[in-house]
Order: sequence, then structure tokens, then C-alpha cells
Amino acid sequence: MLIAIEKVLDKDEVRQFRARLDAADWQDGAKSAGSLARAQKRNLQIDEKSEIASSLGNHILRRIGTHPLFISAALPCKIYPPRFNRYTDGGTYGAHIDGSVMRVPGTNTTLRSDLSATLFLSEPEEYDGGELEVEGAFGAQSAKLEAGDLLLYPASSLHRVTPVTRGARVASFFWIESLVRDDGERTLLFDLDQAIQALTRKVTAADPDLLKLTGVYHNMLRRWAIT
Ligand code: NI
Repeated sequence: MLIAIEKVLDKDEVRQFRARLDAADWQDGAKSAGSLARAQKRNLQIDEKSEIASSLGNHILRRIGTHPLFISAALPCKIYPPRFNRYTDGGTYGAHIDGSVMRVPGTNTTLRSDLSATLFLSEPEEYDGGELEVEGAFGAQSAKLEAGDLLLYPASSLHRVTPVTRGARVASFFWIESLVRDDGERTLLFDLDQAIQALTRKVTAADPDLLKLTGVYHNMLRRWAIT
């Protein structure tokens, strides 16, 4: 399932991010791709060991760590430190699947990528092209979100970034190991949680049916969660 999470960063934060990123030292992104994906990848990235990547990345982690919709949709267990990319001058990333198991840089921790995340840092009108296209059961879906919004999609899906023919597309990207590995199970939990949240606004907290549904949610999560 593709889930758009709006306003992870507000416009002020986006402006501050962009001021730092637009002045940053960008390197050829093909260096960090696997051998198959390398031929498909034409973009720029920031060294993940740099101060700017870690300080902006930590800011994103603080925002999503308290974002109810992100938590509900991703059920995060581990999050890869956010990275940053820039597509300009025809830059593109052809169809590929992200790596499945990754080592978190500078640690002995590995992470299974269940979900991929793209946080858009350019407004859609700043550039032409640069759509994120994700293949799913119902064909390809295309996303080009507002700056500050985040797209979550299954890391198992084939996806691509179409060529940027005008302007620059700046984004942050990272991966999430979820407590619930299976996308279908995670989607059921998300739908149930969203329905419970909506009901909470309509009935009293002690409503017995609301309590029952909340119990079902937690008992499904208990059944499926891998910690
Ligand atoms: Ni990718």
C-alpha cells in the first residue's frame, strides 16, 4: 500500500533544510547502488557520514518518531538514518528494487527493509518530471508530493524516478524495518487503527465496542509483531 503522510516537516523547516542542502557537497549517487541498480541510477547524493546528513537526518527521525500517522502506518522497529538525493539535468533512477537487508553505517546493526520512504523537499512546481512510480497489484502509481510530505511504500515493490527535465528534485529517503513484516497484515492493522481513531472521536472512551475493537487491534499486533 502507498501511504502519503502530509506535513512531516512544515514549510519553515523545509526552507531551512533546503538552505543547507542547496549549499551542500553532492556526489555521484551511482557509487552507493548495487551492481544491477548502478546502471539505472543517475542522481546526486550527500555523503551519509557528513555532519549535514546526520543533523538533518536526526531532525527527520525526531519528527516521524512522534507522528501518529507514520507510527500507525509503518509500525517501525528500526529506521535507517535518512539519506539525501538530488535529481537535476535529466537525472533519473530506472526501475529497481531496493536492497533487502542493510547494515546501518558505522554499526553492527542490520535492518530488513520492509518499507521505503521518500520525504519530498522540493515543491512539485520547482521541477518537471521526477515522479516516483511504484508498481503494485493494480499497476503503477505515480507520486509527486508537496515539500515536507512523505510517501511510504513497500520496499519489495519495483519503483523508479522519472527523468527530471527542469529544475531540481531534492528528497530524503530511508528504509524501515517494521514490527509487522507482511504488507497485507500491516495494512489491515493500519485500516483498523484508523477506524478506531475515527470512532474515538464519536463515542465515549468507555464505549464497550470501542474497547473490544481496541483489544482486537492489540491482539492482532501481538500475534504478528516480531520484535
Ligand atoms: Ni529505490
